[in-house]
Amino acid sequence: MAKYKIALMPGDGIGNDVMDAAKIVLDKIALDAEYVPADIGWEFWRAEGEPLPQRTIDTLKTCDCALFAAITSKPKEEAEAELVPELQGKGLTYRSPIVRMRQIFDLYVNLRPCKAFKGNPLNFQDGIDMVTFRENTQGLYAGVEFHPLPDDLRAKLEELSPRMGAFEGVASEDIALSTRIFTRAGCQRIVRAAFEYANKFGYPTVTLVEKPNVIRETSGLMVREARKISAEYPDIELWETNVDAMAMWMVKNPQNYGVMVSSNMFGDIVSDLAAQLVGGLGFAASGNIGDDLAIFEPTHGSAPKYAGQYKVNPTAMLLAVKLMLDWLGETDTAQRLEQAIAEVIEEGETRTYDMDGDATTLEMAQAVADKL
Ligand code: NAI
Ligand code: MG
Repeated sequence: MAKYKIALMPGDGIGNDVMDAAKIVLDKIALDAEYVPADIGWEFWRAEGEPLPQRTIDTLKTCDCALFAAITSKPKEEAEAELVPELQGKGLTYRSPIVRMRQIFDLYVNLRPCKAFKGNPLNFQDGIDMVTFRENTQGLYAGVEFHPLPDDLRAKLEELSPRMGAFEGVASEDIALSTRIFTRAGCQRIVRAAFEYANKFGYPTVTLVEKPNVIRETSGLMVREARKISAEYPDIELWETNVDAMAMWMVKNPQNYGVMVSSNMFGDIVSDLAAQLVGGLGFAASGNIGDDLAIFEPTHGSAPKYAGQYKVNPTAMLLAVKLMLDWLGETDTAQRLEQAIAEVIEEGETRTYDMDGDATTLEMAQAVADKL
């Protein structure tokens, strides 16, 4: 039996292009792994009314981890209109497979490293090496939302918070409420993941990106828990910043930062900012990590206009493979893969169009494999 069982989920559009690129590199690495293809994406929504079929969930339950490329998603009415005729009018609703996988497998860490590779013409500045730990299951994206504001909830809020006075006289149907729920355990596990990573890979600081001076209770809880956990890692300094100021610092002095940790929405925003500083979507990989399963992906989507042209940059997908290797404990191989990617980009002979090159997706992946 192979040491690892890894699901491969190419999905839609350029997801297939970049997964083919990943396979070139995986072949070269020759990990002791069994790779199992798994269905996900638009085609399964159209034909079966489910973009994440139960058989894929069952497969994932038997795997150590998965590589996922990209999927297409569309607004509700458009999605329904594209179902095969037999499935139309049955009240099926499209649900994001990524969000569902995060929920089903409690993938609470969203890990997003952003490194400026030398010679990448898309770098904002050289020397950037930022890694965002974004909480992936709670906070503003947990979906506990109301509109109109229910009467009983409103009455309770008015009883408990004098601040509700600001909304006196506003009709409940004119009030929308989105909650931001943090738990102590939720704060602890994301902060701990960030410190563990900093410790393992030698980053001297962990920067907590929140807004405790204004969002006192949720951000406040995260800050207090972070300070406690920080005490367990005397060699790593905890820096505390407000998210708005952080956006300015990230543009002004991005080289000053290493590991950053944040809640779901703020982490989403700062990690996109970090990605653009090192070249954008072609370079941004992420890991969705839980205690029992981890899913690694490029953060870009299915870019339908480039689908099947083997034109897009495979780097984000290859960096997702690198993150997977790290997570599996294959850190030497991970390091060699990143080095090979860095060399190909720096030499500049085999670059995709986004870096002003003319290499195809597969040629660039092959160049990386050759370096290995
Ligand atoms: P997108 O990320 O697919 O593409 C936007 C643009 O970014 C592309 O047109 C291209 O110019 C550039 N780009 C993306 N990946 C690239 C790469 N590897 N190399 C070079 N350039 C690259 O975002 P868009 O167009 O907003 O969405 C297309 C579809 O993808 C939609 O159906 C959307 O819902 C879905 N999507 C899926 C995601 C996922 O699977 N995780 C994430 C984002 C969008
Ligand atoms: Mg995002």
